[in-house]
Amino acid sequence: MDALKLKVLIARRAPADVVEKLSAHFDVDFHDGEAPLSADELRARLQGKVGAYITGTERITAELLAACPELRAVCTMSVGYNHIDLAACTARRVLVTNTPDVLTETTADLGFALLMATARRMGEGERLLRDGLWKSWAWDFLAGADVHGTTLGILGMGRIGQAIARRGRFGFGMNVAYHNRSRLPADTEAELGARYLSKDELLRQADHLILVLPYSAESHHCIATAELALMKPTATLVNIARGGLVDEDALAAALREHRIAAAGLDVFEGEPRVNPALLSLPNIVLTPHIGSATMPTRLAMARLAADNLVAALTGAPPPTPLNPEVL
Ligand code: DGY
Repeated sequence: MDALKLKVLIARRAPADVVEKLSAHFDVDFHDGEAPLSADELRARLQGKVGAYITGTERITAELLAACPELRAVCTMSVGYNHIDLAACTARRVLVTNTPDVLTETTADLGFALLMATARRMGEGERLLRDGLWKSWAWDFLAGADVHGTTLGILGMGRIGQAIARRGRFGFGMNVAYHNRSRLPADTEAELGARYLSKDELLRQADHLILVLPYSAESHHCIATAELALMKPTATLVNIARGGLVDEDALAAALREHRIAAAGLDVFEGEPRVNPALLSLPNIVLTPHIGSATMPTRLAMARLAADNLVAALTGAPPPTPLNPEVL
């Protein structure tokens, strides 16, 4: 402990070089346990800390901020920040940073992998093979949906949505359509070959619909019974953004009744708990929130979060602030 150094909390396990870097600048309290801190533990460990290095598993609420008045910077190792009350942080002049850009291509890769696995029924095939149930070739055995040449619907057209659009258009000759809160500039649409559609029209036209929009009160359950009813019975739905975008009970019912063909989910509303209704279905591929999980990308995210924390507390401009107005 160094009385002259500012105190910060590293709230989750982090790469050794990140812990070293932060320890060189700050008096670090490092939670290196496997499980996330509970809300009470987080509040206790944040007492007297001016900075926090967190991940998507720590919730920064208005109540927590009120209980930790010395906090000046919260740096999350994630691009999503729905676990942080940004307005409350801004009101208390707490700087918040995230880790955009460094995970865009890796997350788009996972989105496309999940789309392919879902359309081509790879989860079903793997389970059947491992269970010793592969008996012979048959003309319609595990016949799924084509990906190439079909219509790719992208809901949410930020950086990751655009990276997925490029994979679809240039890798698989797909017709790309999208819906977003704000329409892309005409030259970006032309470059991506992406058509802007209303949300309902996107749901009607997509052969494969991928969700890449931020989660918020407005986007909560933006795919529920009414939206699923607009989709083609042959369509697939992929979610790599946040679980709360989808009404999981409505999705399970649509999959059970073959109102859509299949789904691929990397994120879940109560994760790491997974809705049992989803677990019991064959026509769904499930992965445990691994969109950005490659070692180079996770290292880049961790280092960017650490760079943000050092800059925020040493008077330098943080690379990726979410509320720069507090600086
Ligand atoms: C992100 O960066 O937002 C990923 O979902 C990991 O939390």
